[in-house]
Amino acid sequence: MARKTKSSRRPITLITGASAGIGEALAHVFAREGHDLVLVARRGGKLKALAASIEKAGRGKPVILPLDLAKPGAADRIAKVLATKNLEAQFVVNNAGFGLFGRAGELSRDKQLAMIDLNVRSLTDLSLFFIDSIAKHRGGILNAASIVSFLPGPGMAMYYATKHFVLSLTESLHQELKPRGIRVTALCPGPVRTEFQKEAGLSDDALPSVLTVSAQDVAEQAYRGLMAGKARVIPGVLNKLLTQVYRIMPRSLFARITDVSQNRRMARHGGRPAKGS
Ligand SMILES: NC(=O)c1ccc[n+]([C@@H]2O[C@H](COP(=O)([O-])OP(=O)(O)OC[C@H]3O[C@@H](n4cnc5c(N)ncnc54)[C@H](OP(=O)(O)O)[C@@H]3O)[C@@H](O)[C@H]2O)c1
Repeated sequence: MARKTKSSRRPITLITGASAGIGEALAHVFAREGHDLVLVARRGGKLKALAASIEKAGRGKPVILPLDLAKPGAADRIAKVLATKNLEAQFVVNNAGFGLFGRAGELSRDKQLAMIDLNVRSLTDLSLFFIDSIAKHRGGILNAASIVSFLPGPGMAMYYATKHFVLSLTESLHQELKPRGIRVTALCPGPVRTEFQKEAGLSDDALPSVLTVSAQDVAEQAYRGLMAGKARVIPGVLNKLLTQVYRIMPRSLFARITDVSQNRRMARHGGRPAKGS
């Protein structure tokens, strides 16, 4: 439950990438648990529909903020809107992100750099920007990493690298910010059926059903883990087990196995490049 404070500014939970998938599910869970929301993504229409459905369910009406987070100055714009509306971040959920399937040397450089702008730079900016208000309201930060954060990933090299960064940064912030009463959690899902696969140029066979967890379950576990002050949340028993295997498996062996399976997938799909690449 969101903690009420004596501050004159209203504490809110900021959720990025709320227009689809895991972010949309997180918005419903946080709203149900009594948080007032500020929702960010590029598609204003989708955010509007989500805000209406949250309001219809009897929760507070979320503020929507259509914004491209990969563009410079996005965090400043968010801060300005919060200040104008007399709101203050208590929780920040850095969920927006995308991946690209294909060989790094063959995919669009611009698209890969935009991925770093979103998955890394914007997430970092928003993780640091609101630390004082998060501390004041004894809140937290939830960052979307991935089960691939633990591994090298030929075939999706840039995506794996960005998620590596997210896990490392988040685990460090977890320690550093603990004395200030701030909870910081890395969410590390395995495969989840969302718009992510299409955006990345992945076909449906990229989703091993035995490992797949629904966006709703991921959101519920993420919320519980964040509130409990966990450093990491890995939804799904098998996904948790997999991360134990990763610990003992040589990284070079994993890189070779991934390379072979991604090459096979590329061959099956005629080396189809990611959308927009
Ligand atoms: N799905 C999986 O299998 C999986 C597994 C592990 C980790 N994850 C991570 O979980 C997070 C959510 O993924 P998802 O599966 O829910 O993906 P999704 O369904 O594709 O949703 C991605 C969200 O990010 C937003 N977004 C993308 N680019 C943006 C930009 N430049 N500025 C602002 N918002 C932007 C999208 O909204 P707009 O298009 O409206 O901007 C959308 O709301 C990501 O960080 C992803 O890497 C996903």
